[in-house]
Amino acid sequence: MPDFVLFLGSTWNIIGKSRFFHDMFYVEHSVYAIFMFHVELFCEIPYAELDLYFISCYNDDIRIFIAKTQKSRKAGEILAKIIAFANQKGGVGKTTSAINIASALGIAGKCTLLIDLDPQGNASSGVGVRKSTAKQTVYDLLIGRCQADDVIMKTEYKNLSVIPSGMDLAAAELELADMENRHNRLREPIQKIVDDYDYIIIDCPPSLGMMTINALSAANGVVVPMQCEYFSLEGLSQIMMTVKQVKKHYNPTLSLTGILITMYNGRLNLSIQVLEELKKHYADKLFSTNITRSVRLSEAPSYGAPIHYYDKYAKGAEDYSKIAAEIMERI
Ligand SMILES: Nc1ncnc2c1ncn2[C@@H]1O[C@H](COP(=O)(O)OP(=O)(O)OP(=O)(O)O)[C@@H](O)[C@H]1O
Ligand SMILES: [Mg+2]
Repeated sequence: MPDFVLFLGSTWNIIGKSRFFHDMFYVEHSVYAIFMFHVELFCEIPYAELDLYFISCYNDDIRIFIAKTQKSRKAGEILAKIIAFANQKGGVGKTTSAINIASALGIAGKCTLLIDLDPQGNASSGVGVRKSTAKQTVYDLLIGRCQADDVIMKTEYKNLSVIPSGMDLAAAELELADMENRHNRLREPIQKIVDDYDYIIIDCPPSLGMMTINALSAANGVVVPMQCEYFSLEGLSQIMMTVKQVKKHYNPTLSLTGILITMYNGRLNLSIQVLEELKKHYADKLFSTNITRSVRLSEAPSYGAPIHYYDKYAKGAEDYSKIAAEIMERI
């Protein structure tokens, strides 16, 4: 698909289209609806896949319409893709994956925000943000005490910011239970900053409680990190059911971005068997790269650094970059 599509035509008659690259656009909203009508009728690219509509210049007869396809989206012009990393099972690599995929997206030039929605605060410390340095946390955001911009902190890593969490978040679960609109406590403040980021990555706690429900209600996609163990298969159906329920009741745009195998050991028969089982049911949802078990990946958080900055030659750095590339293709 091209980055831009150029249409030539009068108001009612589009007469051609070609590739076109241009920086300066003039926006006129009044012809927006008419243009969309034409795109639907005459263009091979469905209008749903075209993002922004511009008129570069026009006179009474001929107008030039430029549409940007979704592939050409740039930071500042776009709605961020919001991806929740969720699995109610503990210790499966949610946080490790969220940190390192956010880091890889930043390195790939994508403006990325990591939201730590776990009172343990591992995603925050994993990108170098200590509890003592955060004046306000995601808790303040959820209870409506501040705006997203007040809690976003820049990290020392390329294109990567974070909304940190703290232990006070543990109380939020109960506090939210009585609040109005309790499923949308994250979605609403995030909607105000979606134009500022390419990707927003949410690290969920190991439960299917209010935090995870809020993350799924705010997200476009969900990545389910899991280990290749028997119990993981049982847990998978539970998270799938939750995703289905959230999609049905709160967030129709939610979809499963992918299932990510973490801490993989290809020499274990059980790992191979579980992977085969997963392929039978979720072949199209499994990422093509599995994250292998590696000491470097488990060491990196204690230095407050994503793997790409702790040891950029480690296999884990390459693997997580491949997953980030796949995510960019998928969502
Ligand atoms: N590929 C890997 N190789 C080796 N160790 C790993 C790997 N991925 C994660 N770990 C380690 O496994 C442990 C659990 O990982 P992590 O904290 O990412 O899981 P989690 O699902 O976020 O846990 P929780 O449910 O408690 O939030 C951590 O000590 C982490 O360093
Ligand atoms: Mg975690």
